[in-house]
Amino acid sequence: LEAAALAELAACADEPALRAWYTKYFGDKGLMKAALAGIGRVAKELKAAYGQEANRVKVALQTTYDAALAKEKAAALEAALTTNPLDVTLPGRTRLRGRLHPATQILRQVTRVFADMGFEVVRTREVETDELNFECLNMPAHHPARDMWDTFFTDRPGVVLRTHTSPGQIHVMRAAAGKPVRVILPGMCYRNEAISTRSEIQFHQVEGLVIGDGVTMADLKGTITAFARRMFGPERQVRIRSSYFPFTEPSIEVDIDWPKDDPNRDRLTKGTGWLEIMGAGMVHPNVLRAGGYDPDKVTGFAFGMGPQRMLMLQHAIDDIRLFWQNDLRFLRQF
Ligand code: PHE
Repeated sequence: LEAAALAELAACADEPALRAWYTKYFGDKGLMKAALAGIGRVAKELKAAYGQEANRVKVALQTTYDAALAKEKAAALEAALTTNPLDVTLPGRTRLRGRLHPATQILRQVTRVFADMGFEVVRTREVETDELNFECLNMPAHHPARDMWDTFFTDRPGVVLRTHTSPGQIHVMRAAAGKPVRVILPGMCYRNEAISTRSEIQFHQVEGLVIGDGVTMADLKGTITAFARRMFGPERQVRIRSSYFPFTEPSIEVDIDWPKDDPNRDRLTKGTGWLEIMGAGMVHPNVLRAGGYDPDKVTGFAFGMGPQRMLMLQHAIDDIRLFWQNDLRFLRQF
C-alpha cells in the first residue's frame, strides 16, 4: 500500500490531483482507513506489530502529502506572481478630489466668525414678495429708493427675486414674535444688471440683524470691528462713513484699512488705503414696526455684506464673472 500510494502521490501534477489522492487514502471510505480497520482480522499475537506498522505508514503518507501540498501551493503563487507581474514600486493613481466652491468657502468662513459671536444662522427665501423686499423695508410703492436695486420681476405681480437679503429681517422678526434677535442671513440675491467684471446678476449676501433692549450703534461698531479683525487680520482699523438706506437710520458704510504690505493695496483702494466692506445702520422704526416690534421699547442694528467681494479683495481677483463660470483653472486655486 505504501509504495503504491507514494508513487501515485508523486505523479499528482496539481492541487486538485493531490486532494483527490488524499480522499482516496484518507477519506471516510479511504484505503488507509480500511487498512487500519483490517487489524480486526489479524491474529492476536501479530496485532501489535500490525498496528505499529499501519500507524507508521499513515504518518509517513500524511507527512509526504502535507509537504507535496505546501510545495504545490508555493509553486502556484509563484506562477501567479510571475505570469501577471505587479510592480509595487509604481506610484499610485491619484484620484481627483472634489472641493468646496470658493464662494461656499468664503460664505462658511463669514458664517463661522459670526457663529462664534453667538449669531444664529437662518436662511430665508430667494423668491420674495414686493412687500417684503421693499414695502416692509420702508419703501412704499413708487419710492425712489427702490431704484437703488435693479430688480428682476416675475410674471406674477408682486413677486420678485430678492435684490438683497434684507427681507429676511422681516421673516426673522415675525418668527421671533417680539423676542430678542441675533442672526445672520446668508444667501443668494439677484439683480438685473449688465454682467461685467464688476457686476453679476446673482451673488451672495450675508445680512446681520440684532434686536434687543438698548442695542446701540456702539454694539454695531464693536461687532463689525471684531468681524473685520477675524476676517482680515488683527491689526485692521475700521472706518465708518455716513450713508443712506431706507431701512436704517442712521445708515453707515464701513471701510477697513487695507494692509500696507499688500502690493495690490493702491490698485484695490484706488490710492486711499481704505476699502468698503459693508452697509449697515440702526434698524428704522418703520421696519421694526413691520416686523411686529415696538420701536419705543427695542432698538436694533443691521448690516449687509457681499462675501464674494471679500474673497475678491483677499485674493486680488479682478473679475466677478469667474465665480459662476465653472472654469476649473479658477476653481482649483481654492
Ligand atoms: N441691503 C443693503 C444692500 O443690499 C445692505 C444693508 C443691509 C444695508 C442692512 C444696511 C443694513 O445694499
